[in-house]
Amino acid sequence: MTSRAIRFNDLSLVETGLSEEVANSLSRVVSSGWYVLGPEVEAFEKEFAETIGTRHAVGTASGTDAISLALIATGVSAGDEVVTSPLTATFTALAISRTGARPVFADVEPNSLTLSAESVERKITPRTKAMVPVHLYGSGCDIEALDRMARERELLVIEDACQAHGATHHGTTLGGWGAAGTFSFYPTKNLGGLGDGGIVTTNDEEIASLVRRLRNGGQASRYVHEEIGVNSRLDEIQAAVLRAKLPYLEAWNRRRRELAERYEAGLASTAFTPVAPLDPSGSARHLFVIRTPEPTSVMAHLRDHGVDALVHYPIPAHLQPAYRHLGQAEGSCPNAEAAAKSMVSLPLYPSLSNEDIDYVVRVLTEF
Ligand SMILES: Cc1ncc(COP(=O)(O)O)c(C=O)c1O
Repeated sequence: MTSRAIRFNDLSLVETGLSEEVANSLSRVVSSGWYVLGPEVEAFEKEFAETIGTRHAVGTASGTDAISLALIATGVSAGDEVVTSPLTATFTALAISRTGARPVFADVEPNSLTLSAESVERKITPRTKAMVPVHLYGSGCDIEALDRMARERELLVIEDACQAHGATHHGTTLGGWGAAGTFSFYPTKNLGGLGDGGIVTTNDEEIASLVRRLRNGGQASRYVHEEIGVNSRLDEIQAAVLRAKLPYLEAWNRRRRELAERYEAGLASTAFTPVAPLDPSGSARHLFVIRTPEPTSVMAHLRDHGVDALVHYPIPAHLQPAYRHLGQAEGSCPNAEAAAKSMVSLPLYPSLSNEDIDYVVRVLTEF
């Protein structure tokens, strides 16, 4: 078999065919002389809200900030508990901690690896104020069940859709379910900038205007600080680049789904089990993750054949050193812990060819 070099990700704008559009966006901003929270941010917020189908979208400096500002704007604060998934970028939990609330980790479903509604139910206490379900790897969690439970228990839902731009779940766009949705524009995301960025989506006018104030130091008007806000402003360059890319998101997600289905078909008769989205047809397929009892050897074998692979995520949030003080020991989230020891993420991005996928499948079949 002829060897190929397949990088884990390919962020080169030339390969996505967008270098000219992005260059035009950059020069538009440079010549405007306005670089933070200006017309590009305003236009992008409007366009992104239309994409998600919410009335408002408010840009922030990162996805982490989007989560914490959404929580603060909905009233979460010190003394509250917020239930979330341990199998996520630990930034989800850090964002909860930043509000002063305590993250509580419920377990994930064994096959989709998304937050288990049953497990969340067991974690609810009189102090629980909100939940932050994560749409992991671009695929919706069981948001219907979680949303129903939240309504019954009068809890807030803040969706972590940081990996799920443009994804749907049973026909409904993710990021528009709960009190607020949150997204990251970190460069590797399905919709990524040339640096950090994030956004809060919501149908609630009050939440939107509070996030708008909080991201800008709590200023209600210039130099008048109504709240102890933060500096989490989205800059014009990121917004202009994201505007150039947004019209391609749907086609990129479609191509990711085609490639993911090709992986699934190719791996069907092997011992590798792909993580199964609850609603594959709506998934944005941010990552393609397989399960294997020998992840370290599988990754070494892939690397020997020119294929980069990673693990998302090797340490569940409840077992991170930063969260030792919470006392959620090993064994408290068995499905997440088992997953962390048996996962490999394979390359998946729109500019990969069918032949690239077939090559990775062949390398895995040879293992
Ligand atoms: C699921 C999830 N939540 C939160 C974040 C945090 O986003 P950011 O890196 O933009 O702060 C990320 C990205 O790293 C993520 O993947």
